[in-house]
Amino acid sequence: AIDINSLRDSTGYITIDSGYKNTGATKSAITFLDGEEGILRYRGYSIEELAEKATFLEVAYLLIYGELPTQSQYENFEHEIRTHTLVNEDMRKIFEGFPVNAHPMGVLSSLVSAMSAFYPDSYDDKAPDSTETHIIRLMAKLPTIATWSFKKSQGHPVNYPKNDLDYCSNFLHMMFALPVEEYKVDPVVSKALNKLLILHADHEQNCSTSTVRLVGSSKANIYSSISAGICALWGPLHGGANQEVIEMLEDIKADGGDVAKYVDMAKNAKTSGFRLFGFGHRVYKNFDPRAKIIKKAADDVLAKLGVNDPVLEIAKGLEEAALHDEYFVSRRLYPNVDFYSGIIYRALGIPTNMFTVMFALGRLPGWIAQWKEMRENKEPIGRPRQIYTGATLRSFVPMSER
Ligand code: ACO
Repeated sequence: AIDINSLRDSTGYITIDSGYKNTGATKSAITFLDGEEGILRYRGYSIEELAEKATFLEVAYLLIYGELPTQSQYENFEHEIRTHTLVNEDMRKIFEGFPVNAHPMGVLSSLVSAMSAFYPDSYDDKAPDSTETHIIRLMAKLPTIATWSFKKSQGHPVNYPKNDLDYCSNFLHMMFALPVEEYKVDPVVSKALNKLLILHADHEQNCSTSTVRLVGSSKANIYSSISAGICALWGPLHGGANQEVIEMLEDIKADGGDVAKYVDMAKNAKTSGFRLFGFGHRVYKNFDPRAKIIKKAADDVLAKLGVNDPVLEIAKGLEEAALHDEYFVSRRLYPNVDFYSGIIYRALGIPTNMFTVMFALGRLPGWIAQWKEMRENKEPIGRPRQIYTGATLRSFVPMSER
């Protein structure tokens, strides 16, 4: 009998590890993660300390270049980003062609992909020096592009960047400022956003990051690689979960707020097909350290902004039930970062279909760092094998005889 989990062919053994649960795809010096202990560090710095003390751009610099920036390195990095925030007006024309109800993730991935057409030296292997500029462009332009979909959905004109503002405040300005009145960025909101982006900035070889590295390993340019990562992130089992969390909470509310009913459905996930979004994680099996930080941030932000949202009560009920129910406890299914991120984004006034875009804004420096590391290490093209389970050799049957 053939063991279809492991097969030897002329090139050696092929083993099946569905979902790559125990397969290392690369060595990396960027992010350390211990799922049992709930530890997450970027370049050796704990996520708790970075979320508390750093700015998102400091963390982006750390991830991309390996060290925390000195004052002058930081000023230079920030200056470069500020001066690249404008997006080519011809990209606006592409954007105008999208329907008003286009999902912002579809728009974002398309426009990032389009950037390779606007910057053709990105696929010229003889112009490696331009990589630095592409990195700056991505960091600078992603927030600008991200806000366009929201503006269009509101029927409002897009806002041009205001480069005297810091990274997070500029994003909030482009999202929420209206030409008819003065908009002042609330520092509480800007600080919360800074923290959220830091918490999402990297997470080693997750689905979207592995996608970025795999696509980049064929020497595809940085824009195409990151656009592929955005597509991978969109899935509801990955970054799309934060949108699903709020939609699930709203469904429960609309259905009378019976939390126990939904907990029971999730316990029968195999037959009901229903999972509690925001619960469980592939690698964190005790707790998600980001969830701890974000839960506190959520409490602070909601208190400071005086938000009173009935959906939050449902979230608390689910959290309680799942933390004490044997099904969740035995499978070590804890609330993950996405359970809380959607709650904060909602309180900040960010619409639900933008949540995964917010995740992408945070994850961008991680994707860039991983793409850069993969290139600098001259990693070979990624090409997994398979174990064939189809038919053996058959003779072709003419159509008239089938
Ligand atoms: N609700 C109910 N049951 C669940 C859930 C859930 N959210 N998650 C896992 N389970 C159950 C499974 O049915 C399975 O049960 P079994 O032992 O009876 O077979 C067991 O827990 C293990 O589940 P797996 O799918 O094997 O776990 P895996 O590590 O492959 O999946 C994942 C992790 C995809 C995150 C999963 O927990 C899930 O689907 N969660 C909901 C989606 C979500 O929140 N995703 C965001 C992840 S975080 C991020 O991307 C930043």
